[in-house]
Amino acid sequence: MLDERMEETLNFQFNRELYSGYLYLAMAAYFEDQDLSGFANWMRIQAQEELSHAMKFYDYIVRRGGRAVMADIEAPENEWESATTVFEQVYEHEQMVTGLINKLVDLALELKDHATHNFLQWFVAEQVEEEESASGVLQKVKLASESKSGIYMLDQELAQRVFHPPAEE
Ligand code: FEO
Repeated sequence: MLDERMEETLNFQFNRELYSGYLYLAMAAYFEDQDLSGFANWMRIQAQEELSHAMKFYDYIVRRGGRAVMADIEAPENEWESATTVFEQVYEHEQMVTGLINKLVDLALELKDHATHNFLQWFVAEQVEEEESASGVLQKVKLASESKSGIYMLDQELAQRVFHPPAEE
């Protein structure tokens, strides 16, 4: 049985993961419009990952006897100045998500909810990867932006990204 405060906060994170997917789809659509299909592919995969994160929260809430609640998902931005500003936002967004996961961990510790604390460790590790990946692409975009061929080469590289569903616990 989940503590009420824990259930609400897990549902809030479920919603934020869906929002993250929505944000990355908006970024995918921006890149499709710029004819950068590799960049768009990277964002589509990122959106798929976020949906899988959301489903992890959904499933966990249900397994603990709680109720997954669908709340409003606000519209993200739809326009950016450049590929660099997009990836700056991705990196900032992932740092913000890390902060939310850390707050969830703090709450699990406060409530002595060891099961939720254990569940959240996957996300603690995932956020290290998410920040590393966002920061890595941001550095490449900054370098590639110095020339048109650079952006073309990076587009080819980002086209290679494929979706790997997260392993079952
Ligand atoms: Fe669900 Fe990008 O963290």
